[in-house]
Formats: sequence, structure tokens, C-alpha cells
Amino acid sequence: MLTGMDELKQKAAHEAVKQVRDGMVVGLGTGSTARHAIVRLGEMVVRGLDIVGIATSVESERLARKVGIPMADINEYEVIDITIDGADEVNGDLVLIKGGGGALLREKIVASCSKKEIIVVDEGKLVKKFSFPLPVEVVPFGWKRTADKLRAFGFTPQLRKGFVTDSGNVILDCHYDELGSPEKIERAVNNLPGVVECGLFINLADEVIVGKREGVERLKQ
Ligand code: 5RP
Repeated sequence: MLTGMDELKQKAAHEAVKQVRDGMVVGLGTGSTARHAIVRLGEMVVRGLDIVGIATSVESERLARKVGIPMADINEYEVIDITIDGADEVNGDLVLIKGGGGALLREKIVASCSKKEIIVVDEGKLVKKFSFPLPVEVVPFGWKRTADKLRAFGFTPQLRKGFVTDSGNVILDCHYDELGSPEKIERAVNNLPGVVECGLFINLADEVIVGKREGVERLKQ
């Protein structure tokens, strides 16, 4: 039995998988919304759809294999035809904050290699002004010192306790009052020694499919 919000996530995910065709290499996102897409793709594979999946996390890889999607390593494919992933917040310029599930690094690598990146969200994720704490993946060595540098940018970084990413790093969830220019923030944060990647996704989403009570809405670049 799906909750109200989960139903909207499923609506968006099911709409997105309609764009998947035979022969495609498909990037599989991470999180509760992307999960709906993976499960539906598994059903489509059972009915004969011929695709290869590239996972953005160990968790999604496990689920995809369980539902029968043939999986490959990203190093085997130069281009991914289509990726379906979730997001924590999306603004009107299709800038995203991702990483609530801690998979932002692999998600960004996969997005950057995808011909088409489709983001699936429920309507609660659409915002005028970002407020979701910005996840920043940092190497464990000296993470407190990296946090000091993020603090100097006006963030209040909080270590995500008990969490290690698939690449063996930690996440600092960076709280803020006003995020400011996403381009400048991404550049500055990613330039800090110790930072591996931040959860700002700029010019990566080609289409956002929003699950709403009354149907789905599409936002395009
Ligand atoms: C994981 C992510 C997810 O896409 C994001 O956290 C949204 O998750 P959900 O669909 O569960 O709300 O970026 O790193």
C-alpha cells in the first residue's frame, strides 16, 4: 500500500520509464523515487525489454539485479542513453540538490555521461528557494578541517553520523540561510581540498517529471 507521497513518486517514475527503448544503456538512480523506476523497468525486462543498467549505488545495483535487469560497469560504456534519478529539491532553472541518499558522487558521474538525464520527483520537491541542506562528500582524512572551510563560506556543516558512501567517504550536510548562486557555490565548494563532490547539479537535468495529485508535469531545459 503506497502512501500519498509515494504514489506521486511512483507516478513520476512510471512516466519516465516510458522513454526507455530496446537496446538502451540506462542509468539507474538512487532513492525511493528512482526505486519505482527500477522496479518498473524490471517488470518491462521480464516482458522482453532489452536494456543494460548502470547503477548509481550499491543499493540500486542490488535492487536492479533482484528484479532481473542485466547490469554492467560504467567503464564498459562511454555513453549512457538515458538516466532516471530522483532529487531532494529542484528549482525553476532545473538546478537540483541531490545526495539526501548519499549517492551524489556516482549519481553525478552517471548524469555527466548521460545523453538524457530525467529527474523524477513528487510535487513537494519543487521550490523557488533552496532550503535542503547541501550534501557535500568529503574524504574522511581531516573532515573537521574541511568542515571549518565550509563554515567559512557561511554553511553550518553537520557530519552524517554512521554513514559512509559507496566510495568510502563521509557526508557533511551543509545548512544555510540563503544558498546564493549555485554556480559560484559549486565551484568554490568543489575547489576545497578534501571535498570530493557536492550535491548541486547544474545543467545536468534535461527533463524533470513531477508527480502531482492531478497527473504529471514536465519541466524541460
Ligand atoms: C540520493 C539522491 C536521491 O535521488 C534523493 O535523495 C531523493 O531521494 P528520494 O527519491 O528518496 O526522495 O540524491 O543520493
